Amino acid sequence: MNHILTLDQNASLAGLPPYVFSELDRRKAQARAAGAPLLDLGIGNPDLPIAPEIIEALTTALRDPATHGYPPFRGTPRFFASIERFMAERFGVRIDSTTEAMALSGAKEGLAQLVMALCGPGDLALIPDIYYPVYARSVWLSGADVRWVPMRARDDFVLDLDAIAPEDARRARLLIVNYPNNPTGARVELEFFERAVRFARENDVLLISDLAYSELTFGGTPAPSALEVDGARDVTVEFHSLSKTFSMAGMRIGFAVGNSDAIEALASYRSNTGYGTPTSIQLGAAFALDHYAELVPPTRRAYEARRDAMAASFIASGWNAPVPTASMYLWLPVPHSVDDWTWTQTLIDEDGIVVTPGVAFGEGGRGFFRVSLVRPADELGRAAQTMAARRASMQG
Ligand SMILES: Cc1ncc(COP(=O)(O)O)c(C=O)c1O
Repeated sequence: MNHILTLDQNASLAGLPPYVFSELDRRKAQARAAGAPLLDLGIGNPDLPIAPEIIEALTTALRDPATHGYPPFRGTPRFFASIERFMAERFGVRIDSTTEAMALSGAKEGLAQLVMALCGPGDLALIPDIYYPVYARSVWLSGADVRWVPMRARDDFVLDLDAIAPEDARRARLLIVNYPNNPTGARVELEFFERAVRFARENDVLLISDLAYSELTFGGTPAPSALEVDGARDVTVEFHSLSKTFSMAGMRIGFAVGNSDAIEALASYRSNTGYGTPTSIQLGAAFALDHYAELVPPTRRAYEARRDAMAASFIASGWNAPVPTASMYLWLPVPHSVDDWTWTQTLIDEDGIVVTPGVAFGEGGRGFFRVSLVRPADELGRAAQTMAARRASMQG
C-alpha cells in the first residue's frame, strides 16, 4: 500500500504569523500575470553594482585554489585584520578579532543564529515594535517570547527604553536596536547607545545593535557604534553588513563584533550547523573594508540624490512628506482614512508602483508605508509625483 508522507513543519515554524512580504509577492505576481508592468520599490534590494575594484578582488581570490576548501569557522585572518582596521578607523573601537569578531554570511543569518544560540522556551526578548522581521521571527522560532518596545513617530522613532516594564527588563535575555533604522530612516547619537548600554548592564541583558546602515547617512556626524560607549563590550554585540554599504547583498557577507561570550555562542551555533563564510567572499569584503573611505561616498551620494529627487517631487506636488537623513528608504504616512494594504494595493492596481505596507514591520508600523530607493533618481521622481496625485485623490 502506498503511504503518502504528511510533512508537518515543527510547531515553532508552523506557528509563525504570515509573512507580509510573501503576501506582497503574491499580489505583485497577480498584477504581473494580469500584464501590469511594475516599478518595484517594495524590497530593499540594492540595484547599484558592486564597485569594479571589489569585483577584481573577489575574482582574484576565487582564482586562488587556496580559497576553494572549507573556510575557517570564525573567519580568515585577512578579513579579521580588515575588520579590526575598519572598526578602529571608522569608530575608534579596538577589537581583538581572536575572541571579539566573527565573519557572517550576512547580518540577517547572524542575528537569527545568535538568537537561536541564546534563547529557548521560557525566555524573553525585547524587540522594537517597528522591526526588521528576522528579529521577532528568530525569537519565535527559538520558542522564546517577544516583548515589544515602543518606537513612536512622536519620539522620532527612537526606542522608548523607559517604557519597558521592570519585570520584563529583568526577565529578558536580549534587546535588539537598529540605528540608522530600517524602515523609518531614524538615527541616533551616541547618547542613545549610552542609555541602551546602561539598561543592558542594569538588567543583565545582552544589547544587540544592528548597524547594517552605518554608512548610509546624509549630513550630520557619522553614525556611531554602540561599542564606542565605555564598557559597552561587557554587554554589547554589534552586527555589520556589506550588503548596502558596498552593494554586496548578493555576496552574503557581514560580521559581528563585540562581547566575546556572544561571539562564542554565535560561533558555537554556527559550527554545529554549518561551515564558515566562503574565503573568496571574505577576501573581497576585506578589500572593500580596507577602501571604505573611497568606496562608500559614491554609494552614499547615489542614495542621497535619489532621496532628494523624491522629496523635490513630493513638494512640487503639494505633499510636504518627511525626508529621512539616513538609510535607503522613505517612511511615509498613508493617506488619512486609508489602511496600509488598501493604499499599497491601490498603488499596484492603479499606478503600477510597489511599496511595502508599514505593517510588514510590525503593528507599530501600521499607518505608514516604506519606499525603497532602489531605482534611478528620475524614475523615483516620477513615482513620487504619481504617489502624491494618488494620495490627493484618495484624501478627497
Ligand atoms: C536592519 C537590517 N539589518 C540587517 C539586514 C540584512 O543584512 P544582510 O544582507 O547582511 O543579511 C537588513 C537588510 O535589509 C536590514 O534592513
